[in-house]
Amino acid sequence: MSPTRILLVIFLTQSGLIQGKLKVTLRNRANAAGRKFFTCHISETDKTGLTVTSRRVVDTSSRASENPPPNNPSNVSDGVYKIYLNSLGAFGVFACDISRTGGELTSIQTILLKSDEYLLPDDRILTRTVNTGDEAIVLRMDEVSRFQDVVLWKKDGGSSFNSGFLTLNVPQSGGIISLSDAGIYECYYNNLRHYAVQGLQRIIVRACPADHWGPPDCIGICDNCYNGGVCDDTTGECICPVGFNGSNCLSACDPLGRFGYNCEFPCAEGQEVDSACRDYMFCLPDPFGCRCASGFKGLDCRTSCPWRKFGANCLQTCHCNSGGCNRMTGECTNNDRCQPGYSGTNCQRFYGKNCEQECHCNGACHNVNGTCDGEWIADIQVSKVNPGATAEIKCTVESPDDLATVTARLSVTGANRSASFVGNRIELSSQSIVQLYKVSSVTSEDVFSCYLAYRDNTLVNDGRHYRRKEADLYVLPLIASSPYFISASNTTITISWTAWNDSSDIGDPPVIGYVPYHRTNEEEDWISSGSVQAKGMPTLSFTFSNLQPDTLYQFCVAAVREGPFGEGPKSPFESARTYCPKTQPLDVQARLTDTGSTTVLISWKVPDEIPSSCKASLIGFLIYVSDFETKEILDIVEVMDPNVEEYTYETPGKNIYKFQVKLVTDAGYGPLSELTEYARISLSDIQAEHILNKLKIQMGPRIEMKFMLNQKAPLETEYLSMESDATAHESSTEMNQTGKMVMRFPMCRRNP
Ligand SMILES: *[C@@H]1O[C@H](CO)[C@@H](O)[C@H](O)[C@H]1NC(C)=O
Ligand SMILES: *[C@@H]1O[C@H](CO)[C@@H](O)[C@H](O)[C@H]1NC(C)=O
Ligand SMILES: *[C@@H]1O[C@H](CO)[C@@H](O)[C@H](O)[C@H]1NC(C)=O
Ligand SMILES: *[C@@H]1O[C@H](CO)[C@@H](O)[C@H](O)[C@H]1NC(C)=O
Ligand SMILES: *[C@@H]1O[C@H](CO)[C@@H](O)[C@H](O)[C@H]1NC(C)=O
Ligand SMILES: *[C@@H]1O[C@H](CO)[C@@H](O)[C@H](O)[C@H]1NC(C)=O
Ligand SMILES: *[C@@H]1O[C@H](CO)[C@@H](O)[C@H](O)[C@H]1NC(C)=O
Repeated sequence: MSPTRILLVIFLTQSGLIQGKLKVTLRNRANAAGRKFFTCHISETDKTGLTVTSRRVVDTSSRASENPPPNNPSNVSDGVYKIYLNSLGAFGVFACDISRTGGELTSIQTILLKSDEYLLPDDRILTRTVNTGDEAIVLRMDEVSRFQDVVLWKKDGGSSFNSGFLTLNVPQSGGIISLSDAGIYECYYNNLRHYAVQGLQRIIVRACPADHWGPPDCIGICDNCYNGGVCDDTTGECICPVGFNGSNCLSACDPLGRFGYNCEFPCAEGQEVDSACRDYMFCLPDPFGCRCASGFKGLDCRTSCPWRKFGANCLQTCHCNSGGCNRMTGECTNNDRCQPGYSGTNCQRFYGKNCEQECHCNGACHNVNGTCDGEWIADIQVSKVNPGATAEIKCTVESPDDLATVTARLSVTGANRSASFVGNRIELSSQSIVQLYKVSSVTSEDVFSCYLAYRDNTLVNDGRHYRRKEADLYVLPLIASSPYFISASNTTITISWTAWNDSSDIGDPPVIGYVPYHRTNEEEDWISSGSVQAKGMPTLSFTFSNLQPDTLYQFCVAAVREGPFGEGPKSPFESARTYCPKTQPLDVQARLTDTGSTTVLISWKVPDEIPSSCKASLIGFLIYVSDFETKEILDIVEVMDPNVEEYTYETPGKNIYKFQVKLVTDAGYGPLSELTEYARISLSDIQAEHILNKLKIQMGPRIEMKFMLNQKAPLETEYLSMESDATAHESSTEMNQTGKMVMRFPMCRRNP
């Protein structure tokens, strides 16, 4: 029987944006002696719009008068809020609630113990973090001072239960942990509750199974959080214990004796020594809870870590050859080396469940010694796309085992992706599966993992069999320099730029076109009003039209590579001003200074709108002299005086010339004046021997030439050729007995 092929392409969407937790640390003196306040330290760089309040989380006394709420937080320095305690009711469970305008609340709880508790958790920690789906746990209290009365338990200040035992199963009925097991567990002697001498411990339940994140599916796989960091069940990020930072909690604060997400708060001002953070309890957002600073343990955070242990509450094991290590950082002392299988500055890395570069398995690596777990997942292929486009992901799974009951699933993790996506099997033989997925809006932070799951979505072997690949993205093309300004009119600006070039510019080819943008200032959004195809041109140009006169515009250009979302970043911008409504010189005229001369007097008028209404002020004029026939520009004369309105010009020869004038303002050049030609007769065409008297030329709406010729002059042919020069405008000739001839031409004006 041949395997059935079913092709299913699933479009996946983001399951919603993650509202990151605010970075806040709550600090209090672990021992009640001398404790007058607790503080909340905000590590967010942007502290605008933050609101900080405080509250008592549950009532832990039978007398309401001994449970006053805490005072309002007061801002004592940038990002530091102090909550003063009322000595009478300074014990119990308190929280700092921080929110940003429009954002979710980040709440951090601490437990303030008395120094003379009768009951204490036997593990001497304030909080325990467990995972949904974990086996039931046992809470156990120590009788520090024995009191002959019934032992009772409460959860979250509710009704009492389980009298007589110092242990409590969570959940009480056994089975596995669920979210409803989270809360404040209290163990107290029946008649002593109001003295606040009970044992308190807070159970934090991650909303996902161990090493997974992204409820409700929880298909995100946690990255390694070293040195006691805890994987945030909603974001997948590591929350690092005090004394470590970095995305995997691998960096120890330097200098020591500091706390905060960027190690920015000194434990004792001016005393950045190893022991400065002793005596303090530090609480971080859930699911982290509360711990002592690195190097200390105990409910009073006074006890230094024993040999072979380090970190917050001494919960980490040293992996140096000799066994011991620095109790704050875990680093080996005296040039000692890491134990085999461990690496990193403090010997906490191992081969890693994430198959970092040390792993050379075709499938997953064993997470301790780096050996391969078996050839389960053969391949993941991720199509290369433009950032933001839709990628196709192909998971190919082969296994010596029968795969009938499992499926290859895709998980996508990244900054804005909280969950993963399930597709259907598209090709199946008993030992291989191929599945295709499409994931939209791919960013450089996306990581795709194909792994094995049973039909009910539980992961095979705790999700150890997987293969992952980062998003494969093209680099969008960038035009690195600003476009050039070419010309402007009152409503247009023309720009030009050099084509994107494979060998000298950033980005992946092919570039298929360009999008020019303009705006009037930096507060405005860029506006595109068209695009230009690439077409292999070395330089390209574009004219922005419908612009406002006398306005400064900024313009830039973005190159576009093929495929959806191919538009690259915008180039740097250049600026230019459009001209005033009327910026052309008016009434431009050119006439010979004398009969037979080659000297021309050019005159013009400045329009009234200049300079009074214009931001640009007049500097001078440019006179363009061009050949009438070929239109070639023969000369450009600068007249840098705004007050002149005429100029005497010696023409380069005897020919027909065209004269145009433009204004020069401090914002640039104005447009050329209307066409104004001066038709100058080519005297060489008339043979001198035929001319009897002097040539006379009169300017006006018509050019009138008068001259006398002798009888032999070949009149018609020679003189009518002037008519064709004048491009078939009205003309007339007259001749009288003495051979005098009059020709009339209109001013040579070409239709624009
Ligand atoms: C808190 O106090 C610091 C200086 O002590 C000040 O710079 C900061 O603006 C204050 N923050 C607020 C929200 O008042
Ligand atoms: C970690 O803390 C150090 C100071 O000890 C600081 O220079 C560094 O930027 C921090 N790293 C991160 C990722 O916050
Ligand atoms: C790696 O660890 C696994 C599980 O502990 C074990 O079965 C395997 O033999 C180890 N491999 C080596 C090379 O030590
Ligand atoms: C994630 O979303 C935020 C808010 O929408 C956005 O500012 C940020 O650029 C996004 N990050 C990525 C990598 O897409
Ligand atoms: C790209 O630039 C290089 C060096 O500047 C030049 O030699 C090459 O001809 C250019 N290629 C194109 C297609 O313009
Ligand atoms: C721009 O100038 C032309 C003449 O050059 C004129 O006809 C037009 O009305 C002007 N437009 C504006 C918006 O001032
Ligand atoms: C003919 O030429 C003479 C000499 O210039 C002039 O006086 C006379 O008026 C002309 N006659 C006509 C009809 O143009």
